[in-house]
Amino acid sequence: MKIIGIEHIGIAVNSLDQDAPFWKHILGIEHRGTEAVERQGVTTDIYDTGQGKIELLEALGEQSPVGKFLENRGPGVHHICLEVENIYTAIDEMQANGIQLVTPEPSVGAEGFLVVFIHPKSTGGVLVELSQKPSK
Ligand code: CO
Repeated sequence: MKIIGIEHIGIAVNSLDQDAPFWKHILGIEHRGTEAVERQGVTTDIYDTGQGKIELLEALGEQSPVGKFLENRGPGVHHICLEVENIYTAIDEMQANGIQLVTPEPSVGAEGFLVVFIHPKSTGGVLVELSQKPSK
């Protein structure tokens, strides 16, 4: 498995209207786009520092994973995303090593990346997303 780098850091926020302006206007990081990812129950709002992105996450409903996270832990860092060369190779290696994935199959996440999440139990306490860039 080849890790290319940190793709983004996911941050759960209560309100994009309230919390995005810090990233967008105070820090002035380039805004890449805002996208509802229905399958994951989330609206993503993505900023690119040029060396890793910031992904703000607003829940689509209280029962969504981000909605539950906000209820239990409040706003803050939700996950770290590593870019991998090949998501299927990465999944095979995780499974061969007994690493617990949240779902065994990759799904299409924000910006068309193929993504899979590794359970915090297997990583030292942080939700880790692996992602493969969509081929052009
Ligand atoms: Co993410």
